[in-house]
Amino acid sequence: MDKCKICRKKTKPVISFGKMPIANGFIDDPTDKEFFYDLKLLFCPNCFMVQLGQIPHPEMMFNDTYAYISSTSSTMARHFKKQANEIIALLASRKDPFVVELGSNDGIMLKHLAAKEIHHLGVEPAANVAALAKKNDVNVLIEFFDQKLAKKIVRTHGQADVICAANTMCSLEDLNGAFEGFNILLKQHGTLFFEDPYLFDIVSLTSFDQIYDEHIYYFSGLSVEQLAKRHKMKLTDMKHQDVHGGSMRYYIKKGGSNKRSFRAAEWLKKEKELELDSSNGFKKFKKRVNTICRNLKQTLQKIKSQNQQIVGYGATSKSTTLLNYTHIGPETIDYISDNTPTKIGKLTPGMHIPIKAHTQFANDKPPFTVLFAWNHKKEIFDKEKAYRKKGGNFITYFPKVRIQ
Ligand code: TYD
Repeated sequence: MDKCKICRKKTKPVISFGKMPIANGFIDDPTDKEFFYDLKLLFCPNCFMVQLGQIPHPEMMFNDTYAYISSTSSTMARHFKKQANEIIALLASRKDPFVVELGSNDGIMLKHLAAKEIHHLGVEPAANVAALAKKNDVNVLIEFFDQKLAKKIVRTHGQADVICAANTMCSLEDLNGAFEGFNILLKQHGTLFFEDPYLFDIVSLTSFDQIYDEHIYYFSGLSVEQLAKRHKMKLTDMKHQDVHGGSMRYYIKKGGSNKRSFRAAEWLKKEKELELDSSNGFKKFKKRVNTICRNLKQTLQKIKSQNQQIVGYGATSKSTTLLNYTHIGPETIDYISDNTPTKIGKLTPGMHIPIKAHTQFANDKPPFTVLFAWNHKKEIFDKEKAYRKKGGNFITYFPKVRIQ
């Protein structure tokens, strides 16, 4: 029986997807060696943490060929500028404040602090994206965060007023170790906040493609509350973010006596109503996942039987789960258009669909396009107004399959 990675109590299975390749493991050639692992989701009835069963070694995912670059979306660029401004406001009354960001990627957020000469440090294990951040004058350590690193940072920079992370905490297997590191690194009245895809949204939308190797944990306020408590910290606030298909930003302070906001209390109430504190909350999830997969396959097969071209839009990590679970490959999807230089010319993990530059999509104007980057729907629909006007169709699939 799989034990919870946080509290070591027995977990319950939620769903299994079988063998999966690394979600961002794009390859150059179909004969390239790929690593597969068992993708299954578990729920801990004791501390409410939803988590993966098996996890590939972190260096399999975050290395010097890491393909994910934050600044490929203008929505994300705006989102992180806003986050930087929030930090600047929070620090207004502090003397020579210090900010640490875990998973700083290409410096999409920290560059705004660097521009204001705010003392900052990014911690980023993927050397290629860290190099992009350095070009933006962002200070970065190319390391994985742990207690040892927390001590080293304190020795060289002092304690932090703010520790933050976006789409990173869910990838840290040793969360207890990370929280012990936060207790070392964070000032007594400092603020820790992090945001990740929100379990409430995943369950409500059935967005099962959020489940992949890099997302080891699927947080709710209920599970973060338990985790913080375990480390003598307190979940004080929660702010919902309209990015990555629905994310939650959790605010945490040192010491259990801090007050919780009304907003956080309301979210916790909503989560209990959805039964995210019980395995009941996941009972119908698996059934809904399989209905979506069946409907998507049928829709694509019908289009193919009419000899119409289908392409994809956005070679997302998420689509690795969807494509490998449904076995949809290049026989159905000709190619996926993507604007990330590190992905263009490669093949998708497992199913080997070619990735092409947007110019190909603009030339082809394919009649049907599966929107794998569904979390950027607004930005992409705005960009592709002309395509849709001329009869191009996008296929989306959460919470149900739609042609629009
Ligand atoms: P992302 O939303 O980060 O999803 P994931 O976390 O699942 O990888 O990735 C979006 C992908 O879509 C990324 O590869 C860039 C691509 N993209 C485009 O090609 N064009 C666009 O206009 C946008 C917004 C994204």
